[in-house]
Order: sequence, then C-alpha cells, then structure tokens
Amino acid sequence: METMVRFEGVTKEFSPGNYGVLDLNFEVKKGEMVAIVGKTGCGKSTAFGLLVGLTKPTSGTITVDGCDPFRDFDQFRGKIGIVFQNDRLLPWRTAVENASVGLEIMGIEEKQRRDIALEWLQRLGLSGWEDKYPHELSGGMRQRVAIARAFTMDPSLILCDESFSALDELTATRLRKEFMSLVKENGKTGLFITHSINEAIEMANRILIFHKPGHVGREIHVPEQLDVHENENLRQEILNSLGA
Ligand SMILES: Nc1ncnc2c1ncn2[C@@H]1O[C@H](COP(=O)(O)OP(=O)(O)O)[C@@H](O)[C@H]1O
Ligand SMILES: [Mg+2]
Repeated sequence: METMVRFEGVTKEFSPGNYGVLDLNFEVKKGEMVAIVGKTGCGKSTAFGLLVGLTKPTSGTITVDGCDPFRDFDQFRGKIGIVFQNDRLLPWRTAVENASVGLEIMGIEEKQRRDIALEWLQRLGLSGWEDKYPHELSGGMRQRVAIARAFTMDPSLILCDESFSALDELTATRLRKEFMSLVKENGKTGLFITHSINEAIEMANRILIFHKPGHVGREIHVPEQLDVHENENLRQEILNSLGA
C-alpha cells in the first residue's frame, strides 16, 4: 500500500528542552483510518500543526502525499480536508455558501462550486437546508455542513480534530458512521485526533497512542468485528496505555 502520511524522526523543540514532539515516527497508508489519542500535552496539536504545514519541524522529515507540508505549502491547498471541533462556519453565509468556501479560494467558478457543494450537502442529508444560515441549523447539521465543506475540495486526506466531541452522543455516533462510509466510498484516507476512546475504536483501523513528549508510545490494531467483551478489553488496554 502507498503511503499517505509519514513522520520520520520528527522533533519540534519550542525552546531548549521543551518538546512538542520528540522523535515522532508513524505512517498512514492510503485508505487507512488512523486515530491519534493521548492525554493533554502529549503533542497531538503539535503533530497536527506539523502535518498541515503550519509549523516547521526542528528536525526530521514529514511527507503528506509525497509533499513536504511546510515547504510545499502552496501546492498543498486542497489536498487536506479538515473538520474541526467547532464547525467554524461563516455566520453570514448560507449552508451552500459555507460548503463551497474552499472551492472559492481555489478559484472555481460560481456555478460549478454551487453544484459541487449542493451534491455534498445532499449526500450529508441536508437537501432542503442549502439556503439556511448557520443559526437556523442544529449543531449536528452545522457539523454536516463542515464535513461537506471538507469533501468538496476532493482532498486525498481528511483530518479530524475532535470533530464529533461537541455533539451529543447519539448525533455523534450517527454522524461518525456516515462520515466513515463517505471516507471509504470516496477512497479517502482518514486521520483522527480524538480524546474519545469510543470514537477511536469505532472509527479507526489503527490507533496510535501518544505519550509525552510527543511520540507513539503504543500502536493498536483494531479488528473489523468486536463483540462486547473484546470491545471492553480493548477499551481497558487503551486506558492503561494512556496512563503510562
Ligand atoms: N506554541 C508553543 N510554544 C511552546 N510550547 C508549546 C507550544 N505548543 C505546544 N507546546 C508544548 O508542547 C507540548 C505538547 O503540546 P500539544 O501539542 O498542545 O499537546 P496536546 O495537543 O496533545 O494537548 C506541551 O508540553 C506544550 O506545553
Ligand atoms: Mg491539543
């Protein structure tokens, strides 16, 4: 399988002895769904910033779809779709205008970007809500618009940063499932930063447990099918590894 993301011996030292990540190594293959979990301060956000090219590593190599996200920042636009914890919708724009904002930045003409955005809103069950403003939508619906916005750019990698943690559990569970099938059906690669063990087990093929200072302390493969006991054992295993 081809590699989508590779961190090789990546260190980010903010000030002498203060490491965001230290000798961080991991790989995500194309088509994989990988979750990163870890306690506060273990380097998840630092890894995120490095991955999207917002910060430059002190040493080591990062490649995303064959590019260096920091050096090749400009060519990088549209390659990564990001779904944040808060929907970050623009309040003065309708659902369809919000969903197409990335296409607008990419310079796609209006008719085409509206068509693409409408199609994704429809896939996310928002037909009939296209012209509503964020304040007219529920939290779950707003997050659906944010997911549509990430997909409209047809990115090869979809990155989630606590994307479902602000939603009630029922809405979150439903939306995670839909999100996962969209990632799979469209041949995308998914990388999820989350503090929810349930979410990691539900969504990922593989879980990377980060330990402080920023490195992969443990890696867990998640079997396709889990019965209740296996699920509970896996939860315990992750909990134990997190505490280390
Ligand atoms: N901009 C920064 N300047 C200085 N130290 C930072 C900065 N960002 C993160 N750190 C430090 O790097 C470590 C990892 O932080 P972070 O990546 O935010 O962890 P997480 O997202 O897992 O909570 C922490 O010790 C934090 O204090
Ligand atoms: Mg963080």
